[in-house]
Amino acid sequence: MKISVLNKKLMLKHLDEILKIEKDTSDLRGIAYGIPWIKDNFLIERDMKWELSTVAFEKGYVAGFIITSCYEGDKAHVHRVAVTTSLPSYEKKRILRSLYLKLDNEANKKEIIYRTTSVPIDNISTQKFNLQEGWIEMNKNEVEDFIRQKNLELVVTDSNVMLDKFALNGDPNKFKVFKYLY
Ligand SMILES: CC(C)(COP(=O)(O)OP(=O)(O)OC[C@H]1O[C@@H](n2cnc3c(N)ncnc32)[C@H](O)[C@@H]1OP(=O)(O)O)[C@@H](O)C(=O)NCCC(=O)NCCS
Repeated sequence: MKISVLNKKLMLKHLDEILKIEKDTSDLRGIAYGIPWIKDNFLIERDMKWELSTVAFEKGYVAGFIITSCYEGDKAHVHRVAVTTSLPSYEKKRILRSLYLKLDNEANKKEIIYRTTSVPIDNISTQKFNLQEGWIEMNKNEVEDFIRQKNLELVVTDSNVMLDKFALNGDPNKFKVFKYLY
């Protein structure tokens, strides 16, 4: 397996493969993943996106990706995570770990202090994986801070769950938020 920074050049070169993994993941997981992103979602410019996103290749073909950007200058947010859906569970996890390892190497160079991600409430397998890999679930105050820092139009419910009242039909509207400290 080869892991690379998913810079803009690689994104443009492998966009069709990435869109296929994105659609397969959405088809497989439904509301636990949401409506597949289209080209424009993958190409949108965000702070340090082309330095912090990572991509995995098996035999030259894309096997997974993590789309990440920077906020507030020293924090990374993982926006999207997907791997080839037909692989066995242990293979998917191996790829995800390698993708995160590469992200962390790049984040260290940029003096990022932690990474965050929000996982749909129905996506139990990813939540379990994250907890096993050292992510910490945020409490209500931390989720409120996160929403403020990222300037999101979301609210926190009593159970530390972030609610998106404007989510499109087919997209998840409730999320758990996780933090991984460097
Ligand atoms: C991380 C990942 C590889 C794990 O997938 P997996 O190994 O196939 O997941 P499993 O089906 O084995 O489920 C993992 C655990 O969650 C549990 N689980 C899954 N769905 C569940 C549910 N609805 N209720 C309760 N437990 C559930 C499983 O029982 C299993 O528990 P165990 O580890 O104690 O045995 C997969 O979630 C993934 O590819 N995630 C990235 C894609 C994605 O969804 N991205 C968006 C996230 S932001």
